[in-house]
Amino acid sequence: MIESPLLNDGAASSRPGRRWWLLLAAAGSGQRMRSEQPKQYLPLGDRSVLEITLSRFTGLPGLAGVILVTAADPPEGGVRALEAAGLPIHYAVGGATRGQSVRNGLALFRGRGLGGGRNGKGEWVMVHDAARPCVRPEDIRRLLESVDAPDGGLLAAPVRDTIKRVDAEGRVAATVDRSPLMHALTPQLFPVDVLLDALESLLVAGREITDESSAIEQAGLSPRTVIGAADSLKIIHLEDLVIARAILVQQGVLDD
Ligand code: CTP
Ligand code: MG
Repeated sequence: MIESPLLNDGAASSRPGRRWWLLLAAAGSGQRMRSEQPKQYLPLGDRSVLEITLSRFTGLPGLAGVILVTAADPPEGGVRALEAAGLPIHYAVGGATRGQSVRNGLALFRGRGLGGGRNGKGEWVMVHDAARPCVRPEDIRRLLESVDAPDGGLLAAPVRDTIKRVDAEGRVAATVDRSPLMHALTPQLFPVDVLLDALESLLVAGREITDESSAIEQAGLSPRTVIGAADSLKIIHLEDLVIARAILVQQGVLDD
């Protein structure tokens, strides 16, 4: 474990100078991709998806440290490549669901006293899918500048297609007004203690969530959406790797 040289006790709560931690959820097994190793460890150019994803965050101000949540047995070399970059990384082992993985990562604020031993109080965490390497640093920066405690917020993209509600036979029952509908993206930024409490309440109740915002919503709060570029795709299937590569070339992250 490498400790962050930036660690200090004075957590900044005012934006834009807030201090934040990056939690990368990388403990999935990529069932839908069916590749030999989980998609976050597959190569994109000369780096892995995970390395490129991490690189989108590391130049941003206020980053206190990285929490990397992986399966118990990450592939040989998959994580070493990150260490070689000399970044401050704290490790946690993921769980059966994404919610459990994120909870396990946040538990370091209690168990290991990350952030000065205040159980995460006064700290902010940005949770991001390891499988989303195309997120734009300028969008992350706007999220950092737009979100307040305790509700936090997330990057989101307006729904572009016409949306239909269908019946059990697949026949159109209605055309839905899409103007208030958004795709929830990551990163999602919340106060550590608020998110940890919200996730634990749901886990105790045996309720499943697919993003952190859902946990916060169920705690009665209203996270702010910040519009992010719609090309921040999540790599799910093999063909998404080709699209991600093209987007990263267009962004100047990968060579053509
Ligand atoms: N994730 C995690 N812990 C889990 C499940 C998912 O940390 N138990 C992470 C994945 O590694 C990924 C992100 O959450 O970076 C988004 O999940 P998803 O795209 O669904 O990835 P997988 O669960 O790995 O893929 P699949 O659903 O196809 O199995
Ligand atoms: Mg999954």
